[in-house]
Amino acid sequence: MKMNWDNLGFGLTPTDFMYVMKTSGDGCVFDDGQITPYGNIEISPSAGVFNYGQGLFEGAKAYRREDGHVQLFRIEENARRIKMGADRLCMPAPSVEQFVDAITKTVLANKHWVPPAGKGSLYLRPLLFGSGSVLGIGPAPEYSFIIFASPIGNWYKNGSSAMSLLIQNKVARASLGGTGGIKSITNYAPVFEVVQKAKAQGFADVLFLDAATGKNIEEVSSCNIFIVKGNLISTPALQGTILPGITRRSVIEIALDFGYQVEERDVPVKEVLDADEVFCTGTAVGITPVASITYQDKKVEYKTGEETVSNKLRVNLTGIQTGAMEDKMGWTVMID
Ligand code: COI
Repeated sequence: MKMNWDNLGFGLTPTDFMYVMKTSGDGCVFDDGQITPYGNIEISPSAGVFNYGQGLFEGAKAYRREDGHVQLFRIEENARRIKMGADRLCMPAPSVEQFVDAITKTVLANKHWVPPAGKGSLYLRPLLFGSGSVLGIGPAPEYSFIIFASPIGNWYKNGSSAMSLLIQNKVARASLGGTGGIKSITNYAPVFEVVQKAKAQGFADVLFLDAATGKNIEEVSSCNIFIVKGNLISTPALQGTILPGITRRSVIEIALDFGYQVEERDVPVKEVLDADEVFCTGTAVGITPVASITYQDKKVEYKTGEETVSNKLRVNLTGIQTGAMEDKMGWTVMID
């Protein structure tokens, strides 16, 4: 198939191969996995994932450098995060080595699907789920780990796209003691309704508040959030209700390196409404500026464009991810 790399968005373009690995025996250990043609899988209707939501996903990207080589960004962090989620959901997880090996094999098998430098990236979607049959509530007796891939475009296009967010206080995304801090598949569908309603009103997404007080911001349905006031960059602290984003962590480390003051703490809505800049971070969104936030019918606008803190961070992060800038953090690995 001849791809038009200029028209990529964030949608599924199926690639040739996927990676499949299953547990055997008592369901605790993953056997060697393999690359298979991309396609449907056979699974019992009584699988744990369908009945009790025992499942996690991850998101990662492979980037093509200007010299044509392909590289991965902080992929061990995805391996560690899926292990953390697996512990919470009583699932075995692939080891860090198995995870990195599986990602590498998936990318190399689909190498010609990695877009040219500057046109996008190959998005990788690892899935870990209870594939064994259960009826009584409890962990499944068998698990599957699958990675599929899709070329995707740059979410952020040359400073021209910025998000408008809606703060609402009817639906909570996560609560203390819940699963907001892991990438459980069950965290996403419960917010579809409220996000769809916001999109119908012209918003890009919803910014959720903490369930306990409704006073502090937490995260957007698909990404973490930061606010900027002067030299201070603040983001909600990880207290089990917010996804520990790998882009979030990288932005904090780059910002500290640039000399900004960075605080992870409670971020009250009233402070957000008074910020100079707001931006979102995530594997899918990268670093995307927020143009406005609407709260209780009041719309506040923020600085966006070339001369912003978020743009400085974005240029640096994407430079490292795509190999255009020196990676002094040691975050990337070339795989071909
Ligand atoms: C990612 O950024 O990779 C995510 O997993 C968010 C997703 C809901 C698009």
